[in-house]
Amino acid sequence: MTTSIAIPDITTPAYLHAYGRINGVVIIGEGLADRHFRLLAKAIPEDGPELLRLGAMEGRHAREFIGCGHHLGVKPDVALAKQLFGPLHELFLECDRAGDLPGCLVIQGLVVECFAVAAYRHYLPVADDYARPITAHILQDEAEHLNYAETWLKRRFPELEPAMSSICRRVLPVTISILQAVATDMRAIGMDPLDLVASFFELFQDSLETVGYDTRTARRLIVSAAASTMTKASARAVMPSDDLAQL
Ligand SMILES: [Fe+2]
Ligand SMILES: [Fe+2]
Repeated sequence: MTTSIAIPDITTPAYLHAYGRINGVVIIGEGLADRHFRLLAKAIPEDGPELLRLGAMEGRHAREFIGCGHHLGVKPDVALAKQLFGPLHELFLECDRAGDLPGCLVIQGLVVECFAVAAYRHYLPVADDYARPITAHILQDEAEHLNYAETWLKRRFPELEPAMSSICRRVLPVTISILQAVATDMRAIGMDPLDLVASFFELFQDSLETVGYDTRTARRLIVSAAASTMTKASARAVMPSDDLAQL
C-alpha cells in the first residue's frame, strides 16, 4: 500500500497553496482540541487540572503550527478548515450538552488524537527543516492525549460500549471526509493520503482494542464507517470530484 513520494520543493506555488490548506486544517484542529479539553475539564472535574493541562498543550500546538506556516510565508486557509471541522465539532458539542462523556472522549480523545498522530507521522518525513522538530515533539504530546482517553474509557468499558459504538458510527465518516477533502493537498506536500488513512484506521483499531473491544468488533466498526463514507452524497457536496478520486 505504501507508495514512494519524493521530498517536495517547498518553494513552488503548488506546494505553498496546498500547505496553506493543510496548515489551516492543522491549526483549526489543534484549536478545537484545546476547546474540547477545556469542556472536558468542566465535565470531569476530578480530572480538571490534568485536562486543562492537555488543552493548554493543544493551544501551544496551534501556535507552533501557525509559526510553521509563517516560516514559509503561507496564509492558512482557516475558512476551509472551519467548514471541514464543523460537523465533528458540532457532534462533540452535542455530546457535551447531553452529558455524553464517552461520546466526548471517543471524539476528542480517540478519533481526533489518532487522526493527529497518523497525520503528523506521515508529515514528519517530508516536513521542512523548521517544521520537522516541532512536529516530532507534538507527535509525542498527542500520544499522551490518546493515552488519557484510553485509560478513562478502559476503566468503564462494559457499561460504555454501546455509547462508544454509537458515536464511532457517527464520527468516523465525518473524520474520513476531512481527510478526503484535502487528499490532493496532501499529495502536493509529499504525503500519501491512502497511507495516512490506513495508519489512522490501524491506530484507531489499536485504541478500540486497548479500551476493551475484541478485534472483530473493532474492525467491523471501522469498516462499516469507511464504507458509509464512500457512498455518502454529502461528502461530494463539500469536496471537488478530483479530491474524491484520490481515495
Ligand atoms: Fe495537538
Ligand atoms: Fe492532542
